[in-house]
Amino acid sequence: MTTTLNMPQNAESQSTDTTIQATINSIIDELITSLPDPKQLSSGQRRGIIARYSSVLEGNFVYWMTAAVIATKSEEAREELLENLHEEVRDAHPAMLRRFAIAAHAFPTDVDALAINEDLTKVRLFLGRLSAVQSLVTMAFFEGFIQRFMGYLAELAAAQGSSEMEYTDVHGVCDIEHTQGLFRALASETEINPLGQGMDLYEGVYLLRSLIEEIVFNRKEAQAA
Ligand SMILES: [Fe+2]
Repeated sequence: MTTTLNMPQNAESQSTDTTIQATINSIIDELITSLPDPKQLSSGQRRGIIARYSSVLEGNFVYWMTAAVIATKSEEAREELLENLHEEVRDAHPAMLRRFAIAAHAFPTDVDALAINEDLTKVRLFLGRLSAVQSLVTMAFFEGFIQRFMGYLAELAAAQGSSEMEYTDVHGVCDIEHTQGLFRALASETEINPLGQGMDLYEGVYLLRSLIEEIVFNRKEAQAA
């Protein structure tokens, strides 16, 4: 961008960060706006969303955050990601999510797991390429989305008769420090290990967005029916 050419370097990278954050936020906004009204859904549809969400998140959040740590070279970025992993493991977030799903009578079945299989595999293979900056952008998007999705997920569970909300309470807190931390990690990684030429910064974000859409809309099953 010509407008940033004469800026001092930190001002330029700050402007890049702001652009990335704005792009990610607008993708999250679009997703949140597109969510179907829980009252218009059948009980089976509400159960399906919780089950597919939990099928993806329970076994993969820690895995994907770990992939980002393995890929990352910047010490500052690694510290930030490890802090996140520390909390996930110490507070047993996967166990919390499992309790949430069971209480909502939405523990995933083989049908739920297979409904998201194709999109899930794409995200796994993408993060397995260990492309640091792309992985960090993807995880920043994931964190941001999860936080904004919690109110909706809690509403679905309540409509299924559940009052077990520890998972959605813990993850729905607007943790500005945490989100900023991931963007700081991204900036410090970009400085020492920039994105290769011709690579799409948002490749993982788009793959993950498709997976989230599959969780919510279960389009493949709807098409097959
Ligand atoms: Fe968590």
